[in-house]
Amino acid sequence: MQVTSVNLETVCGITSKIPDNKMLEVAFAGRSNVGKSSLINALMNRKSYARTSQQPGKTQTINFYNINEQLYFVDLPGYGYAKVSPEMVKKWGKMIDGYLENSKVLRLVFLLVDIRHKPNKNDKQMYDWCINYGFNPIIIATKEDKVKRSQKANLIKEIKNALGVIEGTPVIPFSAVSKSGRDDIWEYIDMVYEA
Ligand code: GTP
Ligand code: MG
Repeated sequence: MQVTSVNLETVCGITSKIPDNKMLEVAFAGRSNVGKSSLINALMNRKSYARTSQQPGKTQTINFYNINEQLYFVDLPGYGYAKVSPEMVKKWGKMIDGYLENSKVLRLVFLLVDIRHKPNKNDKQMYDWCINYGFNPIIIATKEDKVKRSQKANLIKEIKNALGVIEGTPVIPFSAVSKSGRDDIWEYIDMVYEA
């Protein structure tokens, strides 16, 4: 898909109702600071439309980006951010869980993990939630520019093991710096959209 228009259409806080969207949704989940907003910018060919930050916890809402009036990218709040209170973490968890459970048009979930770090129990829980709600998340290993080429295969194997992914689950290395992996990710989005 050629992106010609993007519009941050809906921003959902803890108390807002999830929008009853009519177009299909593709969601991006992952720990705080993993690079969700950076990936969304790369996919939209925008430098900084989705707000990014070195400080974890930037995206604290569920943001719905209308792409070409054809589908939505859904930027989920990052989980596992230590500096917010446990109550806040719980509320975000509920918000993400509620979205996965209730969206009628969510078709694809990308779960982002940092290629340098072994997925932790929060990542595993997120993966399991997705499976629970009938999604088979595609894994994106972000910040691949930070590791040596020779390390990649092993790191990807570790990610698969730690998450306990279903056999055949793709793990796509991605870099927001070089944009490597972007076309592969778009192929999966195109499949949803064209299906
Ligand atoms: P929250 O909104 O807090 O959940 O974070 P996020 O997952 O949206 O992360 P964001 O895109 O804001 O990126 C966090 C930091 O990582 C920023 O400083 C980005 O510039 C950096 N970053 C993201 N992707 C990459 C990447 O592929 N390579 C490198 N080197 N840095 C990246
Ligand atoms: Mg963000």
